[in-house]
Amino acid sequence: MKERLDKFISSQTALSRREAQKAIRDARVTVNGATVRAADVRIDTDSDIVALDGQSLTYRENVYYMMYKPAGVVSATEDRVERTVLDILPPELRRSGLFPAGRLDKDTTGLLILTDDGDYAHRMLSPKKHVWKRYIAVLDKEPDESIIRSFADGITLGDGAVCKSGKAELLGGTRVAVQIREGKYHQVKRMFAALGYHVVSLERVCIGALELDGRLSPGEAREMSRDEAELVFALNDAKA
Ligand code: URA
Repeated sequence: MKERLDKFISSQTALSRREAQKAIRDARVTVNGATVRAADVRIDTDSDIVALDGQSLTYRENVYYMMYKPAGVVSATEDRVERTVLDILPPELRRSGLFPAGRLDKDTTGLLILTDDGDYAHRMLSPKKHVWKRYIAVLDKEPDESIIRSFADGITLGDGAVCKSGKAELLGGTRVAVQIREGKYHQVKRMFAALGYHVVSLERVCIGALELDGRLSPGEAREMSRDEAELVFALNDAKA
């Protein structure tokens, strides 16, 4: 694909179009090894090698990042008070248009996807898709086996909203794995509250067949291939 140099740089980095034009004027950009100072030069995104400050930019139409969200940051693109999941991304992963595909509460940890692909996020979050999410919850007391049936039957929340049937698995002690296929506000905490439990900590470990990478520490993120990102759709209702 042919694209203007300034547009290409702003789409592949966190620089705005204006900042990209300035970077070009300031001789920070090379194309195939030669410094280029004209923002309107058209480059071939498949064959030309564009570098900013000596770092080559591999063209990607969209990016998909897996983050191990730590506690204490909010799942938003910006916030006047709180640190966001975008604020903690390492500089080399920053890029215009990124947003979290879905939300975890400030105190919830675990698997969060960041992308700049609106269609992908829309598909993933669409209630019609029934994408299953798996969480590990630590409760304030040992759960009774009856919660398994309650999750399977569909729990009615305090405000009267009825949840679709989910799954609960007792992991021993106060730990429970739960799977749900909706994304109501504070859903897991409210489901447990309806059963008389308080969630002490909550971690999301899977979305569909995509598992949180065990090599990531809280706060870290890495890029995923498009195929890996598609794993979120790889479980259907029957199999999950
Ligand atoms: N359910 C919750 O209660 N909180 C989350 O962050 C995710 C699911």
